[in-house]
Parts: sequence; C-alpha cells; structure tokens
Amino acid sequence: SKITLTVIKADVGGFVGHTDVHPELLEIAKKHLKEKGKMLIDFHVTRVGDDIELIMTHREGIDNEEVHKLAWDALWSCGEKAKELKLYGAGQDLLKDSFSGNIKGLGPGVAEMEIEERKSEPVIIFMADKTEPGAWNLPLYKMFADPFNTVGLAIDPNMHQGFKFEVYDMIGHKKIIFETPEDIYDMLVFIGATGRYCIRRVYTKNNEIAAVSSTQRMNFMAGKYIGKDDPVLIVRCQNGLPAVGEALEPFANPYLVAGWMRGSHNGPMIPVSLEDAVPTRFDGPPRVCALGFQLAEGKLIGPQDFFKDVAFDNAREKALEIADYIRKMGPFEPHRLPLEELEYTTLPHVVKKLQGRWKEE
Ligand code: F6R
Ligand code: MG
Ligand code: MG
Repeated sequence: SKITLTVIKADVGGFVGHTDVHPELLEIAKKHLKEKGKMLIDFHVTRVGDDIELIMTHREGIDNEEVHKLAWDALWSCGEKAKELKLYGAGQDLLKDSFSGNIKGLGPGVAEMEIEERKSEPVIIFMADKTEPGAWNLPLYKMFADPFNTVGLAIDPNMHQGFKFEVYDMIGHKKIIFETPEDIYDMLVFIGATGRYCIRRVYTKNNEIAAVSSTQRMNFMAGKYIGKDDPVLIVRCQNGLPAVGEALEPFANPYLVAGWMRGSHNGPMIPVSLEDAVPTRFDGPPRVCALGFQLAEGKLIGPQDFFKDVAFDNAREKALEIADYIRKMGPFEPHRLPLEELEYTTLPHVVKKLQGRWKEE
C-alpha cells in the first residue's frame, strides 16, 4: 500500500527573539508524536531557526484529519510550553483556537505526498527560515528544468522527456500546469514573480509526484502581517528524478529571496547545517537546511544533514559578502521590499496618517 510523507511546521514561539526553538518544545513535540501517533509509521522532529518541523510517515493519505490533528495538538502543546516560558511570539502561527478537520488555513505550513515507495526511495526535506514559499521557485526550476543544473535532463533517457509543474497564484487563488521543456518561457514569466506565484508540485510526465512545497501565505491568511511563512519542500531523488546532488546544486549559488528582517528585505539564502540554522544577523540572513532520508517501508532512515558538506562553504562565504553589501542599503529598495509587499505591514498606517498632507498636482 502507499506511503504518505507529511511535513508540518510552525513557529509557536522563538528562543531568543525569532532565532531558535527552545529544546523543551522539541521534547514535547517528540513525546506527543510518540504517545499519540499510533497511525504513524515513523517520525522525525527537528527545528530550523524558530520553526518546529514535524516529519511524519503513515498510510493514511494526504489531508488526513487524524494526522493533521495529531500535528496540531503537538504544536499546540509546544505553544502552551512557549507561553509558560514566555518565549517570543508564543503561539504565533496557531491562528485559530481549535482544530477543524484540516490544518491548512490554521497557520502551520504543510507539504505532503502519497507515494508508491520505490525499490529505493531517497527523499530530501528542505526547510527554510526567514523567507516565503516563492523562495523554492528558482531551485525547483533548476532541479527539474535546467540542464545546466541537472545534467540528467540531457543525458538520462528517464528524465529527457521533462516534468510537469503545478504553479499556484497565491493572490488570485488559481493554479495552472506547465509542461517543461515545452512551456519554459511561459512559466518563467510567472514563477519569476516569487511573491505571488509559487511552484506547488512537480510531477513526472507519467503523473508521478516528484516534489511538493508548502504554499500558505500566512500574511494573506491572517489579514494583518504576522511574519513570513518559512516554507518546506519535499523532493524525491534518483532513478529518473534529480540525483541528490542535482537537487542540492541550486543552493550552491546563494540567490536572493524575500524575508529576513521583519519579513521585509531581500537577502541571500544561506545553505547551512541544522547546527548553523540560528539566524541572528539582522534576524537572518535567510537559511535553508536539507535533510536526506531513505524510506524503508515508511521508516525514515536518516537523517543526513546535507549542507554540512564543506563543498557549500564557498556558497556561505559568498552569501555573507552579499549580506554585507546589501545591508549597507538600509531601508532602500531593492534591499527593502517594494511597497506592494509592505502593503500588509506599515504602509496603510503611514498612508492614513498623511491623509490631507499630500496635495494634488
Ligand atoms: C522575520 C522575523 C523577525 C521579526 C522582527 C520583529 O520573519 O520574524 O525579523 O519581524 O524580529 O519582530 P517583532 O515585531 O515581533 O518585534
Ligand atoms: Mg518567528
Ligand atoms: Mg521562522
């Protein structure tokens, strides 16, 4: 029978400020999944920056009420502890008081896929802090559509036909399927606009799921700005899909993403080990971690902390240089995000305050 891989994440309180998760919260989450997660085959609890990440396997399919409720209750218990320790922003991503059927729309981020486990099933869970779902567009494009990144697209007969990308419009609430390489030029028009469009799923041409990302935009959901969404991404690898090294390769160039301080700045995405995923400089710069697992009848064999590799040292160094450079721009674009992106924060207040002082010309 099929295996479902579910990743659910939330920031339920930072330690200290927005930098990390307190270890007691992780213990609570582990204990909860262990004691209450009878339907799980396996789980792995970790954190990246101030986000708790629940990685779970089961046979219940996606959007399963019991699995989502299990994660909600675990995060809720963590939130209660966060309140007791007066951690920063305790309970912040738990936008509703109670669970109602599906965790989507309640604040936490979700990425899940139901798969027929292959003879060998290597998967990577990418987890980012201080950025937004559109941050996966560039690396997903490179992994699944750019032969300069993924040479398999050119030389592996199993990949040569290309992939299908499901792109979601986070403002218009619409989706479209692009076929690559045929539709690449059309697709790039949209996925280059990372604040609005995001690649939600990638399929093989035989409609097998290859990648899935979390696509909530909490600031749209909440009606007021409450932080960026610190997305997760699941990528299946090898044997007709990107090799592990092809899936990691896009992060060797620290591309710019939106997020960082107050969710309002562009900055370089730094690939780091879990240990180094404690964003402090100007509350950042944005981080990405990659944990590899081999699935064995749903068991999570791992993790392998991929960005520990010294081969990503140059990317880190370059990212730090970019950070120094761009920080000097202070509150000026394009370091600070354009006004449309700040629409959900201070802009309406300032506009209101200055009403009457602007004169028509
Ligand atoms: C970025 C982030 C932080 C906060 C900043 C201000 O995603 O979470 O940069 O925006 O620390 O936080 P408050 O407004 O809670 O003081
Ligand atoms: Mg936070
Ligand atoms: Mg976070």
